[in-house]
Amino acid sequence: MVLERIERLRQELRRHEHLYYVLDQPEITDAQYDSLMRELQTLEDAHPEFVTPDSPTQRVGGAPRDGFTKLRHSSPMLSLDNALDEGDLRDFDRRIRDLLGGEEFSYVAELKLDGLSMAAHYSGGTLQLALTRGDGTTGEEVTPNARTIRSLPLHTNEHGVFEVRGEVIIPNNAFRKLNDDREQEGLPRYANPRNSAAGSLRMLDPKVTAARQLDFYAYFYLINGAPGAPSHTDALRKLTKLGFKVNAAHRRCAGIEELLAFIREYEGQRDTLPYEIDGVVAKVDSVDQQNRLGWTSKAPRWAIAFKYAARQAETIVEKIDVQVGRTGALTPVAHLKPVNVSGVTVSRSTLHNEDEIARLGLAEGDTVVIERSGDVIPKVVKVVKEAHDRKFFKMPAECPVCGGKVVRPEGEVIWRCVNVNCPARLKNSILHFASRSVMDITGMGDVLVDQIVDKGLVRGIADIYQLTQDQLAGLDRMGQKSAERVIAGIAKSKTLPLPRVINGLGIPFVGERTAQILADAFGSLDAIRSADEPALQQAEEVGPKVSQSIRRFFEDEHNQELIKRLAEAGLMLTHKKVDRSGGPLTGLTFVLTGTLPTLSRDDAKKMIEDAGGKVSGSVSKKTSYVVAGEDAGSKLEKAKELNIPVLDESALQSKIAAIR
Ligand code: IVH
Repeated sequence: MVLERIERLRQELRRHEHLYYVLDQPEITDAQYDSLMRELQTLEDAHPEFVTPDSPTQRVGGAPRDGFTKLRHSSPMLSLDNALDEGDLRDFDRRIRDLLGGEEFSYVAELKLDGLSMAAHYSGGTLQLALTRGDGTTGEEVTPNARTIRSLPLHTNEHGVFEVRGEVIIPNNAFRKLNDDREQEGLPRYANPRNSAAGSLRMLDPKVTAARQLDFYAYFYLINGAPGAPSHTDALRKLTKLGFKVNAAHRRCAGIEELLAFIREYEGQRDTLPYEIDGVVAKVDSVDQQNRLGWTSKAPRWAIAFKYAARQAETIVEKIDVQVGRTGALTPVAHLKPVNVSGVTVSRSTLHNEDEIARLGLAEGDTVVIERSGDVIPKVVKVVKEAHDRKFFKMPAECPVCGGKVVRPEGEVIWRCVNVNCPARLKNSILHFASRSVMDITGMGDVLVDQIVDKGLVRGIADIYQLTQDQLAGLDRMGQKSAERVIAGIAKSKTLPLPRVINGLGIPFVGERTAQILADAFGSLDAIRSADEPALQQAEEVGPKVSQSIRRFFEDEHNQELIKRLAEAGLMLTHKKVDRSGGPLTGLTFVLTGTLPTLSRDDAKKMIEDAGGKVSGSVSKKTSYVVAGEDAGSKLEKAKELNIPVLDESALQSKIAAIR
């Protein structure tokens, strides 16, 4: 009965996933889909004996791994020869015609997606194994990561043994979002969608892959490493029938002229496609003819990649100035003499950071090549002509938006404004300050923060403590009730302990843990503020990078003003150290590995620390215990090697409880 319902739900969910992710024709809303998924999840939780690896619930999960295994491909994954222009393509066509001795044949033209190729192996109707191309002979086993790609079926109706090869890509919108997020976090942007797809697939933690919204387009159907259908067209048809995503933009072409027409047609559509392409792949359709044409050591003779020209243009960098982002990062921007790059007028280009400008050897007035790709923002590729009166760029000594201090922490490439109340970063600062793990002000989300800042009600974090219920109730999507809730949250935040306030200040490199250490070591915000670098470094885990960041923060007069006002508002700026040294785990060091049945890693860590123990990332002779959950990796091996006792979650909990 239950099993029947489970099977029924799986079938339904698979059908809707196929409609949504493969065919792009959803029949139900996301909420309806989620509700089916929840029902299945609940039933599987209650009946773990019925969970199968191809259940729709099994896409996300699996513990992070320590490395990738290399495995041999069923047959080499070769690359393709390139044709850079029509002449190259005509040469290719002539060779094929010669080799086939006048026999009739046709091509299949496909888009060359800018991603990385992957092989997926199935048997018994289930995805068994996924390998990256690697060096073509052996690839890296990325099965848990591949399982998170929604358009790659976990289950098919074909029960025999077969292999599907195709391209893993990141669609343009996901690529942009990923790069924006990375910039927010101060990480370098991915240069192109291919790099980011490759980086995302090869994540040791499949949960990170899952968040990247990768897509898989199938183009080869193989059995025992050889084509499993008499022609490429048949293979694509078979793949479609099996539920794989096959790019609809492919066409059987009777000869070179039709092939060229396809190439021109899609070159014109490049900008409207949801993913980046770098050319067109042409394959001889018949597998029998493919076999007779054969291979060179590197590539098949029966296929070629026609490469589109990069979307580049030359122009002049008229000026370089600086933009301040939401996190306070200062990004140099090139103002260009407007130029048309394959249909789009470009007048600005990001230069990312000052190291990038140095790498390019760029100065104002220079003539440069710029390029557009999956990213919205075009980039400068190289300098082609230096101007006579070139003017070198220098990072401003002060934030161009608020005049605050700017710093470039050691080892970082990005300069940042340290003024938390800088208008460029104020919204972000407030969101961080109000977030759950910081000052926990419920209701203070995007929508509200946008309004209180845009309407000028809040010009700095401390202004939050001046807000009135009437002011809030008059805003969009707010009523007296919700306004009351927010005001109560603001009032409650005044009672939260000092470490939270320190974390809320958004000092670079000072997060939850360092905030706790600083509060414990100095006892008040005032003491931290007046400590010099050597004094700060007396605190555990505070090195030169952190101490410098703290000093710079407090040197900024805007920040001094902020602290004065937070004190006036009545926040907790002093602190009594909680003595944990008497805890049951004092003196013991733990290493966590694998997934624990009920505790998250963070929870387990907190429990151990609250009981006086320490948590370390790697196993050594100094480790007292290794706490292992499901899918524990090499850390467990190492523990066994070094004879270190291993605990499961319940043993850990009773250890904490027993001694108490
Ligand atoms: S066929 C031996 N078809 O381009 C056949 N490749 O330059 C090799 N690619 O490594 C692959 N779209 O990563 C083929 N429709 C397509 C493709 C495609 C993109 C990539 C693939 C391959 C590279 C070859």
